[in-house]
Amino acid sequence: MDLFSSIDLQVSPASSSSEPARKRIEELTALIDNYNYEYYMNDNSLVSDFEFDKLLRELIDLERQYPQFASPNSPTKRVGGDVNKSFRQVTHRFPMLSLGNTYSIEEIEEFESRTRKLLGDRPFSYTCELKYDGVAISLSYRHGQLVQAATRGNGVVGDDITSNARTIPTIPLRLRAPYPDDFEVRGEVVYPFAEFEAFNQQREIDGEEPFANPRNAASGSLKLQNSAECAKRKLRFCPYFIMLPPDESNNSQFSIFNSQFPNFNSQFSIFNSQFSIFNSHFGRLQALASMGFDVQPYIRECRDINDIKFFIEYWDNERWNLPYAVDGIVIKVNEVSLWDTLGVTSKSPRWAIAFKFKAKQVSTPLVDISFQVGRTGIITPVANLKPVWLGGTTVRRATLVNADFIQKMDIRHGDSLLVEKGGEIIPKIVGVDLAKRLPGAEPVQFITNCPQCGAALVRLPGEAAHYCPNSDLCPPQILGRLEHFVSRKAMNIDSLGTERLQMLLDKGLLRDAADLYDLTVSQLIGLESVDDTGLRKTSLQQKSAEAIVSAIDESRKVPFQRVLFALGIPSVGEVAARKLASHFGDIDSLISASATDLSSVPDIGDKTASLIISFFSSPRHRTLVDRLRAAGLQFTTHRSPVTGGSSSSPATAHRSPLSGLTLVVSGVFNTFSREAIKESILLHGGTVSSSLSGKTSYLLAGEKPGPEKIKKAQQLNIPILSESEYLAMISES
Ligand code: IVH
Repeated sequence: MDLFSSIDLQVSPASSSSEPARKRIEELTALIDNYNYEYYMNDNSLVSDFEFDKLLRELIDLERQYPQFASPNSPTKRVGGDVNKSFRQVTHRFPMLSLGNTYSIEEIEEFESRTRKLLGDRPFSYTCELKYDGVAISLSYRHGQLVQAATRGNGVVGDDITSNARTIPTIPLRLRAPYPDDFEVRGEVVYPFAEFEAFNQQREIDGEEPFANPRNAASGSLKLQNSAECAKRKLRFCPYFIMLPPDESNNSQFSIFNSQFPNFNSQFSIFNSQFSIFNSHFGRLQALASMGFDVQPYIRECRDINDIKFFIEYWDNERWNLPYAVDGIVIKVNEVSLWDTLGVTSKSPRWAIAFKFKAKQVSTPLVDISFQVGRTGIITPVANLKPVWLGGTTVRRATLVNADFIQKMDIRHGDSLLVEKGGEIIPKIVGVDLAKRLPGAEPVQFITNCPQCGAALVRLPGEAAHYCPNSDLCPPQILGRLEHFVSRKAMNIDSLGTERLQMLLDKGLLRDAADLYDLTVSQLIGLESVDDTGLRKTSLQQKSAEAIVSAIDESRKVPFQRVLFALGIPSVGEVAARKLASHFGDIDSLISASATDLSSVPDIGDKTASLIISFFSSPRHRTLVDRLRAAGLQFTTHRSPVTGGSSSSPATAHRSPLSGLTLVVSGVFNTFSREAIKESILLHGGTVSSSLSGKTSYLLAGEKPGPEKIKKAQQLNIPILSESEYLAMISES
């Protein structure tokens, strides 16, 4: 840090006085790499988050000032920022084979006895490991540096996803020595259950379609165009294979490796006494661990079919306790030298096989069906089941999706349903247990009226869902809309949770979102709410009441795109709202837009366009917009004066921090898309220009700024503003 402050930021990057910067970059890189390794691999926080962020920030700033020293494998790449419009196709140096697979233990027995026969009297063993249910990728390393990551594709040609792979914390960007000079590591990118669940929940809140399972979400994440988005996904890489070019075993780096681990094999491999750790698959995985890979500890060397069967049975039950999905077990001949003898078929090697777990299925009585009403009025039927133990959890409920699903399955009152849990954690109804059907059982009829407000349900032609049209008065819809309005990515009024919103609804203080802006501290003090259990009563104190009113007041500053998202227009999630806001600039232009205008906005399809038109044709929605506008919310991308509200000071609210300033933008930003940062500059009173000149006030540089721009800014003596400095500048308003 001291070193950084002593660097003369104005020196030309080519000058020899940039040497301290180069050294500091190297030092910070090693330090941060090590902190990351300890944190992700050993669960060990060596520094506070604050200290870590400070070091990372220092490295980002230095790399920005001295782009010539910024490595593509710098730990700053973990946060992403590279944008890929389409993914380059790459031919795998060695094809990515798949495995023969089976659901039958008998076929595993056959594989084992065939292998034994083919190998005659040569001693050998097997490895058993988990079959990770994710996306297969191949990582290429040269001289210890990650140089390419590619998806499997068709096994011969895949997509280059290097910048997204760099954001996965457990993919080493540079290896811990010793390592082979030139090799590939193959493995599976998985989306751990906990992270996947949280991500899907957020998608639902944002009005986006949730992913069906962690595998699809992992695959979608690796294909994201902006790697900064991929960085947020918290993916994990489970390596399972090393691909060494044939002559790599003779290269010097490799022998250094072996000499560093003279006893490695005997220490880890109980059946293998050859000296090189690369001679056994088990040893190869241990070697990967020592290079910094997150090798899963659930791999065992097995002597015979009994060991293999034990491993399979154990994990068939235990897999639910793993943090990620596995769909089977992979059995490999451990001795690499025997692989050639066994050979490969056209698609898969003969020295390995996958045993796939069958989905677990149980039959359990249907107790009754509840019909849930969502924020947009859509009715979801949910089966309440006699609790049943299935794959590590007790299942009590499962979705019946919609009326078509109930009809297709021919579900009748008193039936027992077949519940299945496959690779996913959420159980599915897959059918009716007909053997248990009672004579004369009546088919389940979908309800005709809303279970909450009694309104007659509507089902539009061509739509599968029934919905309650009484959106003005139906209680769960009103609450759902308010929950969405105050949510973090919308108006971010975090002091108002479900319980408090319900209390305000019950007391008649709230009917829609606009009423929030009329609430006063004195109205709130003393209001009582009851918690979920119905047992604990709490009453609002002065401090909490003040916090609520001030959070509501703060939300007047939330930019237009988020206000638009908060309105809860069906199909308009966070991304669509941002695109609409930047395209139309203000709410009036959006309200008067035709279907053609709307569909010309990127990512807005005909269906969303018609939903937007129908939303704004409702007098209730128009009144809501008018009232929110009168309350001082932002309905234009150009900042409008903030009026009303008890604690906002007009003096600060009116100040435009960038007024009179011209900014040129370069590079990729963490908190903004390129479009959004320009919008933000305009919003704060600044002017955006595409080229640097004597009139430019600042070059606003994200990650990977254009080197030409940096050079020119230095020549013209134009100050370079980092993203964090920019954020600090605009937050002054
Ligand atoms: S070994 C040549 N090991 O399952 C051997 N594969 O069809 C290459 N998989 O495409 C594969 N876990 O994506 C291997 N522990 C594991 C695995 C594994 C998951 C995937 C892999 C492969 C497919 C098999």
